[in-house]
Amino acid sequence: NKVVLAYSGGLDTSVIVPWLRENYGCEVVCFTADVGQGLQELDGLEQKAKASGACQLVVKDLKEEFVRDFIFPCLRAGAIYERKYLLGTSMARPVIAKAMVDVAKEVGADAVAHGCTGKGNDQVRFELTFFALNPELSVVAPWREWEITGREDAIEYARKHNVPVPVTKKSIYSRDRNLWHLSHEGDILEDPANEPKEDMYMMSVDPKEAPDEPEYVKIGIVEGLPVSINGKELSPASLLTELNAIGGKHGIGRIDMVENRLVGMKSRGVYETPGGTILFTAARELESLTLDRETIQMKDFLALKYAELVYAGRWYDPLRESMDAFMKEITKTTSGSVTLKLYKGSVNVTGRESPYSLYRQDISSFESGDIYNQADAAGFIRLYGLPMRVRAMLEKGL
Ligand code: ARG
Ligand code: SIN
Repeated sequence: NKVVLAYSGGLDTSVIVPWLRENYGCEVVCFTADVGQGLQELDGLEQKAKASGACQLVVKDLKEEFVRDFIFPCLRAGAIYERKYLLGTSMARPVIAKAMVDVAKEVGADAVAHGCTGKGNDQVRFELTFFALNPELSVVAPWREWEITGREDAIEYARKHNVPVPVTKKSIYSRDRNLWHLSHEGDILEDPANEPKEDMYMMSVDPKEAPDEPEYVKIGIVEGLPVSINGKELSPASLLTELNAIGGKHGIGRIDMVENRLVGMKSRGVYETPGGTILFTAARELESLTLDRETIQMKDFLALKYAELVYAGRWYDPLRESMDAFMKEITKTTSGSVTLKLYKGSVNVTGRESPYSLYRQDISSFESGDIYNQADAAGFIRLYGLPMRVRAMLEKGL
């Protein structure tokens, strides 16, 4: 039998390879997904995987699929977890796990394995995706089983099994990077009172070091999905890559929060989402023109649940899929563009336009107009306020 392991080349996943062979007596196929985490030399990675005892390394470039099929739907839905988190890690797990299910089929594996700890959300996201896409696969999560507890333990285990110890110095933070974001947890961040050190950040400059001149950027949107920057049409992944560079340069998209993990504990995390922050601001703003009051309210209401499902790893839940169908339908007229001004960490809207705009200057203008008759307002207010008048009459004995 064979197992497909989600493999990064770091110390932890390198140690999992011999551990799986020793404890499960199976062949190990390593799988590395490119979701924009900045994969270095692929040659080196294959050698490394084989040196750890893997029979094969499979690498797949999932960047476009990740942005098009996972990130953009969440953006269109306006999905934000606990008021702040733009779900970068949460969206990446299902696309990686889905690819692992495909690889398992391709190589004839009957099991899948991941290197997530037993204390986090990621294990849930991987495993719910495995369940949903192939309930017959066995799942192995070494961190929940083995005795290895720390880095020293892992290094010793590696030495004993002749696995080369990765030379890359492990960062003091637990990080997760992809095209959408970079997350930081652990070390000094574990005390929620501590301010993050400036040298921790990698995708964004310190706002006070950002350019002294503001930069304008115009985001083109079609049916709730971003398609262009300053008039230049780009594929989903290239659009996001470009916007990350622009946003990062202006120190945009830093989020510091304490969140509630699915497994019950609170966790302090810091996120950098430069391009994503710009896109969320733009997409939401365009809706102010294209959607009416009740639709926006309902959409925002559903967005909360949508975000919760994504955070909890339920990407392939029919509930999320049905809500996504709603989001797709309701944003059919959310097309147009939004212009934003980026300046030292802030992103401010300066203009929005849409051929489907419900805003009419001939109605809204202070300069008169004949569609809206001010005299109508008197009757409207009398009826609209009728329940309040009735209550007041009762209280006053009238
Ligand atoms: N707390 C965030 C989440 O649950 C980020 C998790 C980062 N994952 C990691 N393996 N470092 O989505
Ligand atoms: C982990 O525990 O593997 C990372 C953190 C998380 O999944 O929330």
